Amino acid sequence: MPEPIKFIIDGKECTAEPGQTIYEAAKANGVYIPVLCHFEGLKPVGSCRICSVRVNGRWMAACTQPVAPGMVVENHTTEVEEYRRALIEMLFVEGNHFCPACEKSGNCELQALAYRYQIMVPGFPYLFPKKDIEAFPKFLLEHNRCVQCRRCIRAIQTPDGKKIFDMKNRSGRVRINVDRKLAAKLSEEEAQKAMDICPVGAILKKEVGFRIPIGKRKYDKKPIGSEIEESK
Ligand code: FES
Repeated sequence: MPEPIKFIIDGKECTAEPGQTIYEAAKANGVYIPVLCHFEGLKPVGSCRICSVRVNGRWMAACTQPVAPGMVVENHTTEVEEYRRALIEMLFVEGNHFCPACEKSGNCELQALAYRYQIMVPGFPYLFPKKDIEAFPKFLLEHNRCVQCRRCIRAIQTPDGKKIFDMKNRSGRVRINVDRKLAAKLSEEEAQKAMDICPVGAILKKEVGFRIPIGKRKYDKKPIGSEIEESK
């Protein structure tokens, strides 16, 4: 059996299985690192950088970087937390996130991160970009709320491996594109999966909004990350 890898996070000695990423190993050692684009079971792409840590002084994405022996990881430091906070604030000003009117409020990972980082007002000016909403037979795609995490692209495919969601355009004009013919064939379960895998309220299954009452929604009960911190 391969030897576990020894490394350090915020002064705590940790061990990792060979091949584990910093995020996976931290979680296994009861250390919370926030993520947004990453989702358990999907190939990490390292696009949002919310999981940024400093490793031996260099910035790295914890969800993609494998642990190496002797790594010294800075995770819960003022500098790292301020960097993540700025990224979360940027996501809020780059889109149009009106949480009180959103069906995903209380179940939204971006909103939950804002609560965790105690963001009352973003430190950047709102851009109020002009974005639209597209309707498909089983779901709505609310581009105002999309954070381009690409979870839907990675998770939702037809049984023969064709992607229903994709990315189009570049830079500030980048947006999720949907194959209309394939989307029309989505089952109820697949549409629900697409909604559930979306960390925000960008993919909404039709006719299911606001089913969970306030006070019973996922992050009404426990803050994001608490399941890891409780396992320490
Ligand atoms: Fe690691 Fe998005 S969670 S880059």
